[in-house]
Amino acid sequence: MENKQHFLNQRRLRASSHIRELAVTVLLNYKQFIQPIFVEEALELPRNIKGLPHIQVDTLNTILETIQQDINCGITKFLLFPIPSEKKTKDFNYDFASLVVSTIKNTFKEKIWLAVDICLCSYTTHGHCGILNEASTMVENHQSVQELAKYAHRLAGAGADCIAPSDMMDGRIAAIRILLNQHHFEQVSIMSYSAKFSSQFYGPFRDACNSTPNSAALKDRKTYQISPFNQTDAIASALRDKAEGADIIMVKPAALYTDIISAIKAKSDAVLAAYHVSGEYASIELMHEQQLLERTSAHIEVWAALKRSGADIIISYAARNAKAWIENHLL
Ligand code: PBG
Repeated sequence: MENKQHFLNQRRLRASSHIRELAVTVLLNYKQFIQPIFVEEALELPRNIKGLPHIQVDTLNTILETIQQDINCGITKFLLFPIPSEKKTKDFNYDFASLVVSTIKNTFKEKIWLAVDICLCSYTTHGHCGILNEASTMVENHQSVQELAKYAHRLAGAGADCIAPSDMMDGRIAAIRILLNQHHFEQVSIMSYSAKFSSQFYGPFRDACNSTPNSAALKDRKTYQISPFNQTDAIASALRDKAEGADIIMVKPAALYTDIISAIKAKSDAVLAAYHVSGEYASIELMHEQQLLERTSAHIEVWAALKRSGADIIISYAARNAKAWIENHLL
């Protein structure tokens, strides 16, 4: 009996931070982090985002300072969200997004890797991610895909390193890949929001991008984003996007969907990104404000969970702290 207890001892490996460090089964590397950034057209001064402390919507001038500061902190990969001032139902104007991309890439050149989110939700009057039918009851898949491919082509021409479609239309990865290749943008990669769930946790982001769906006949995104109750759909969508030519596939939200990350990892050798979304980030920050947890350790704990589940890349609003935090974190 005494002997048995002796052999079952797990606590020797937890006894000091030295042995805890030696025994880790996952490592975080700041080089695999992506920082989301926002730029709004006609904005005169940067503005804060409700629920997202330490994040701001930049102007075309201040975005360059933000990126330079992030480079100084060790972050070189970015996911850009351009926010246009004009909203329409079709024939969107991509001049501002192209200008932001070319300004950033002309300034920083190969020092950074710039992925650009492409979606129509911040361009449409109704806030949906695609073009609606006449009756405004559904998102037209084909028309939306054509439009997104056009947008992707513009941004590739402006110098984007990667196109990140977040719209969840069917067939958009193939359409974008074909158009980019036709125009000799073979080197521009695609990071697909493949397993993107219809989630409550995008709230602060929609506030920042003025992209909350507001159409009377179609109030939410459930007809194109994945149901949280359907694991099979998420896996199938991810595998399909990979087959259509996505270089990186993404699971989003992240911490609520680690089962999906693991399941995709087990079925595919694709490079896998996990997006810890605005509402997930805000939950940590709100608890921190109430002194219910400590934000640095909480973010690191989430990142460890994403790595354990099989994520390669982590997209986090706190990415710009990853290098310093990971290095100083006491296990
Ligand atoms: C656009 C888009 C959304 C997010 C990224 N791209 C919102 C949505 O689909 O409603 C969410 C990002 C976040 O919450 O951090 N379709």
